[in-house]
Amino acid sequence: MSEMKKLFVTFSIVFLCALNFLNGQEAPSKEYKSNYEQVMARTKWWRQARFGMFIHFGAYAVPARGEWVKSNERLTTEQYQKYIDAFNPVDFDAKVWAKTAKKAGMKYAVLTAKHHDGFCMFDSKLTDYKLSNQFGGRDLVREFLDAFRAEGIKVGLYYSIIDWHHPDYPNVGNHPQRDDKEYAKRTFNWDNYLKYMHGQVEELVKNYGKLDIMWFDYSFGEYSGEKWKAKELVKMVRKYQPEIIIDNRLATNEGSSSKLRMINTLGDFETPEQGIPDAPLVDKYGNPIPWETCLTLNGVWGYNEFDHNWKSPELIVHCLVNCVSKNGNLLLNVGPDARGNIPVECVEILTEVGNWLERNGESIYGCGSSDLVKPDWGRYTQKGNMIYAHWLYPNLGQLNAKGINGENVKNVTLLKSGAELPHKKTWWGNSETGNYFITGSSTNDKPVKYDAVIKIELKK
Ligand code: GLC
Repeated sequence: MSEMKKLFVTFSIVFLCALNFLNGQEAPSKEYKSNYEQVMARTKWWRQARFGMFIHFGAYAVPARGEWVKSNERLTTEQYQKYIDAFNPVDFDAKVWAKTAKKAGMKYAVLTAKHHDGFCMFDSKLTDYKLSNQFGGRDLVREFLDAFRAEGIKVGLYYSIIDWHHPDYPNVGNHPQRDDKEYAKRTFNWDNYLKYMHGQVEELVKNYGKLDIMWFDYSFGEYSGEKWKAKELVKMVRKYQPEIIIDNRLATNEGSSSKLRMINTLGDFETPEQGIPDAPLVDKYGNPIPWETCLTLNGVWGYNEFDHNWKSPELIVHCLVNCVSKNGNLLLNVGPDARGNIPVECVEILTEVGNWLERNGESIYGCGSSDLVKPDWGRYTQKGNMIYAHWLYPNLGQLNAKGINGENVKNVTLLKSGAELPHKKTWWGNSETGNYFITGSSTNDKPVKYDAVIKIELKK
């Protein structure tokens, strides 16, 4: 080959690689593929479960101003102690919580074993800063796990890698003493803290039977990944719990846009908080990434006596549908009060959501996104040849399930009752290709509260 030719070939290869890279189409490595497959296999049950209960429970229920009270009000550990002393959840009954979750149609639950305040809800041998010491030796985490498992609900634990109580945890980030110059003069032995934190996680994964989920919270700035010795931590967790799935907060997330997003080796799923992505999350190669929106029922995670800004059951149903229509899960939070009761308002909302799910769960569990374009009147979910049209928003006249090929439709029914729904072309829609009109109601109102699900069964 002449020099010129060689130069031309080299140039073309470099050019094509660069083009592919810019398009985000470079091929995933073998390691990436194999990790991706493992993540998808591990999360399979979870991606079908779709709806879970988050429980933020701790001594912060006493001041009742949310779980960040120690940080927000710059309280010292001494000042916070009165809340620890007063924390006596006499009404706590894990079985009641588990029944509430079950009735709500939730398939998994995640409880705070330790939140940022460092107070342990489990009987850790590595500290005296724990509920069991003042709760007749009872291990609240164990009672939670037993009760939820007994209801057939998968179980997970939230563990804060941040610790506002441990003497070796520096006053960084949102630490309550972040502005305290005297406090900053102390010596903090980071390795000592890591030993404690890894040790506690080991207690949880070793001594409490099979855990389905580990929910670490959270990384920030340089406190990310290897700062926590995250690889070693994950390895240890998986040693005891080979099937466990782990959230993505052991490291800050670089890939918040689909151009960069990757599945990493530290976590199985992404955790958007208090919001729902516009579209399914995919990695930079276009593969779906497991994700879960975590959401409060009012405005805070921990119990707040003065926050009555409850979301309506309708909004919760819509959020759940919205998540599933984009291949995501919803982890819905309750913050029990200092006596251990889930607020009545929460129970009422959850009961309503559960009632809806009882009739319409088929369109949620095991479902994911559909290729049809997001309609004005709601969302689609899909499972194989079943398309579920969720009529959420006010609509005039018939519902256009645009993109459905009428030739390919076997049946159209209202999921709630199984009744056939008529579908016919309108005179004005005839000219448009791809229209598929369904009569969902005799009026302009949806025939089912919150979300009328229309099941479109396609021929196989
Ligand atoms: C945030 C908050 C925390 C809450 C969590 C739930 O990280 O710090 O209070 O537990 O989100 O996702």
